[in-house]
Order: sequence, then C-alpha cells, then structure tokens
Amino acid sequence: MTDIAVTVNGQQRPLAGTPAHATALDWLRDNGLSGSKEGCAEGECGACAMLLATPTADGGTAWTPVNACLVPVYALDGQEFITAEGLGSPDDLHPVQAKLAEAGGSQCGYCTPGFACSMAGEYYRADRTPADDAHGADDDTCPVHDPEHGPNGFDLHALSGNLCRCTGYRPIRDAAYTLGSPESDDPLQQRLARPAPEPVATDAEVDGARFVRPATLPEALRILHDEKDALLVAGSTDWGVEVNIRGRRAPLVVAIEQLPELRTLTLADEYVEIGAALPLSEIEKRLDGRIPLLAQLFPQFASRLIRNRGTLGGNLGTGSPIGDTPPALLALRASVVLASVDGEREVDLAEYFTGYRQTVKRPDELIKTIRIPLPLATTTAFHKIAKRRFDDISSVAVAFALDIDGGIVTAATIGLGGVAATPLRARATEDALIDKPWNIATVKAAAEILRGEGTPMSDHRASSEYRSLMLNTALLKLYSATVIDSKEVSA
Ligand SMILES: Cc1cc2nc3c(=O)[nH]c(=O)nc-3n(C[C@H](O)[C@H](O)[C@H](O)COP(=O)(O)OP(=O)(O)OC[C@H]3O[C@@H](n4cnc5c(N)ncnc54)[C@H](O)[C@@H]3O)c2cc1C
Ligand code: FES
Ligand code: FES
Repeated sequence: MTDIAVTVNGQQRPLAGTPAHATALDWLRDNGLSGSKEGCAEGECGACAMLLATPTADGGTAWTPVNACLVPVYALDGQEFITAEGLGSPDDLHPVQAKLAEAGGSQCGYCTPGFACSMAGEYYRADRTPADDAHGADDDTCPVHDPEHGPNGFDLHALSGNLCRCTGYRPIRDAAYTLGSPESDDPLQQRLARPAPEPVATDAEVDGARFVRPATLPEALRILHDEKDALLVAGSTDWGVEVNIRGRRAPLVVAIEQLPELRTLTLADEYVEIGAALPLSEIEKRLDGRIPLLAQLFPQFASRLIRNRGTLGGNLGTGSPIGDTPPALLALRASVVLASVDGEREVDLAEYFTGYRQTVKRPDELIKTIRIPLPLATTTAFHKIAKRRFDDISSVAVAFALDIDGGIVTAATIGLGGVAATPLRARATEDALIDKPWNIATVKAAAEILRGEGTPMSDHRASSEYRSLMLNTALLKLYSATVIDSKEVSA
C-alpha cells in the first residue's frame, strides 16, 4: 500500500489508509488542500474542479479539468493533478487568478477555485488560437467569432460546468476573454511537453472494501468472472453520484477507464468503432464532426467537466432510459461489443435494452466497444428536450437518421429516450416514412404516429402528455429544418 500515491501540485503524497470509496475531493480536503470546494457533490456546480494531467495524441500532456467530487481518489493512483493552490499563491497569482481578481469575477469566492481550474484548462489548451493570429478579426467564418468564443480563442463552454451564485457571469467571462497566452517559462506550460503519467495497476483494500485497477483487459475480465460483487467504474460520473448522494458502497470496485483496448477509436471503411472507456470529450475531438449526429449531441451532454470523464460504456452500462447517447446510437444502428473470459459477442443496440435499467449484458461481461456502421444516413438530427439548454438531463431525446433520395424517404431510423422504460426505436414511425415522399403531408401523418410511440410517464421533469407532444413536434421541426436548408442551398 505504501507505493500507492498521487502527485498533487508537484508533490507526491501517499494514499495509504484512505477509504476505498473516498473521492479525490474528500481526500484533498482531508489532507489540508481545502481550495477545492464541495458545492453539490454530484457534478453539478464545478466548485471542486481540478486539473488532471492526461495524455495527448502527440505524446505530450493536457491539463484536463475534472470534477474532484466524482472521481475515486484511488483511480488517480500514479497520476498527477493540480488544484487551485497549485496554480498560484496570494503573492504570486496565476494569470487566471489575476484576471478573475481584476475583472471582479469573485465575490464570496466559493466557486472561484473551480472557475480558476476550468479557466486554466482552457488557458493551456494547445489549439486555442487568438482570432487575430488565426484568420484576422474581420473573418466572420472563423469559429472564434462565435459569440461563445473570446477574441483570445477562449471557448466559453469550458466553463459550462461551473456555477456562481453571487458574482454574475459577465465579469467571469470578461476575465476569460482577456487572458493572454502562457509564457514559455510557465512551469505548467513546460510540463505539457512531457508525457502524462502511465496508468498503474492498483489493488487497495481498506476495511474490507477493495479498489482494483487491473493492468490488462484479460485480468479485468477474470475478476468479473470470479468476483460476483465486482462493480465496474469508468469515468465515475454516474457512480460518483451514487456514492455521494445515495450512500452506495461496493465491496469491490474495478476501474477500467485506462485499459487501452477500451480507449481506441477506429475509422474503418465499413464502420467507426469507439472504445467504451474513451471520455466523451476525447471522442468529440477525435471524430472532429465525422458523425454529425454525435457532433450535435456532445455539446448538449452535461458539461465539459463531465464529458472530460464520462464515457459511452458508462452511459450504456447504467441501462438508463434517459441517457442521451442511446437514442443517437440507436438511430445510427450501432451495436455493442461485449467481452468476457469466454470471448466477444456483438449485440445490436436495439436488442440490448430489455427492461428498466436492464440489458442483455451479463454480470461477467463489459462493454468493450461501440460499432457504428457506415455509410451514415444523410439527414440526421438530435433533439434534446430539457428544462435548461445546457447541463441538464433530458425529459425527452429524439434522434433521426434518414436517407432522402429524389424527394423520397428511402431509409429511416429513429431513436427515442425518456418515453419508455428503455430507450427504443420508433419503428411504427419509421415504417410510416419509408418509401413516402418527404413532404408536409407525410410528415404530419408520421408525426401523429410518433406522438403515440413509447409509454411516457409523468415525473418531476415532464408530464406524459408533454413528452408525447415533444415527440410529435420533433419530426415537424426536423422537416422545417430540411426545407430551410434546401431553400438556402438553392438560393
Ligand atoms: C452533473 C451531471 C450531468 C449529467 N448529464 C448527463 C446528460 O446530459 N446526459 C446523459 O446521458 N447523462 C448525463 N449524466 C450521467 C453520466 O455522466 C453519463 O451516464 C456518463 O456517460 C457515465 O459514464 P461514466 O464513464 O462516468 O460511468 P460510470 O459512472 O463510471 O459508470 C456508470 C455505470 O456503468 C457501468 N459501466 C461503466 N463502463 C462500463 C463498461 N465499459 N461496460 C459495462 N458497464 C460499464 C458501471 O458499472 C456503472 O454501473 C450526467 C451526470 C452528472 C453527474
Ligand atoms: S462539488 Fe459540485 S461539482 Fe463537485
Ligand atoms: S463568487 Fe460566490 S458563488 Fe461565485
């Protein structure tokens, strides 16, 4: 146990004796690093944000902001991270801290360490390019002229997981938009040129509870086979909430998010295959818009802080009927590759969900990859209906994937979430569209059928009537978007 340690703000500290379920935030605060705050303990406020050293494609490191309240601290064994204390000190503020102070971006200060860490992640982002350097400030096609980017290339979505109750967001945005670029002698900038720490195998047992990071996939599958109580954890953005808010404890947690086989992304001629434990923000970056339906989904999924850890395997692993990726993956006709000691099997996602939070996955199996067949449908859209535009759970989610050839719908796949005990395909609506002309008469008739799909219920998020109505309007909205698009093309 003495070898188990993390490097925080450049200093190695042992984890020995820490309870197996302790989060990084618990551990930091118990060890006197109280800069990171607990606002909600469920990934909603960002007061706990810290910067994790993660590997980049070119062999260097990125400072990736994550929610310390959700990550089990043992998952960081051998890893390196920075908290607000490691950015700067009262006598020597880090540029993000100085800008926050100058812009009046902090009042009570409770949220400030988290904002500083999320801002620092964006400050050090290697491809953040100031507008003038990139294309000239008058080029309005440049993405940094997006109202959600600053002239310094700062992407405001980097702060989407941070809440402030008293300052107001304008001064915080002002601070972000006036940040310069890191100096070459900045030690955190210099650190980025060297590789991130390698994953290390971990096996810690405290008071009868065990946390294990297997070194290899076969070892992980062997544990799943032998230990009936084993609970898999990847990004821990669902599991962390269970631990903190619902008080759940597992006798054996098995961390799989560093297994290389689960972190691949393969672009083949006939399919795209995505590792189940690749963080969503990494998938977004690596796909770079190649799957437009997913490109539409990602910004609507939680916050950047959550997407920096959350995975597809975790979203499918819960079997939740309101996860955002199942409707999109259903529309994309995806399958999941399940692995166990007996080998692998590929299951069509439409056959995967069997009941409320139940799936065909056996307890001794894990999701290894998600396979999306090519070619993709030509008309796709993801509609998430939630109370807030960003960082909210769906009331209803609808994903469309249609092929329209010569004005006729030649193929249609529609995935739904939030309207039944499981995510599901809207098969009756698909049948009502296929081989029909793509016009308002077809769409109105099909939208009525879509309104009746699923068995929506009423809860604190939405009534069953509202959910049905949202299904109905989703197809009408898609139709009007395609009509506007075609007018724009012909004009
Ligand atoms: C603040 C907040 C906002 C959120 N917003 C959204 C949202 O907008 N949309 C949405 O869909 N979800 C949302 N979530 C839920 C969560 O982020 C996602 O479900 C995420 O994809 C979970 O991935 P993970 O790797 O963190 O899962 P974990 O928490 O690590 O695991 C979740 C479950 O899946 C199992 N599991 C993990 N990986 C595998 C695997 N490879 N094979 C089999 N089982 C596996 C685990 O055993 C566990 O039971 C939100 C969560 C929080 C805290
Ligand atoms: S304490 Fe609120 S996100 Fe972690
Ligand atoms: S400064 Fe008080 S919560 Fe943000």
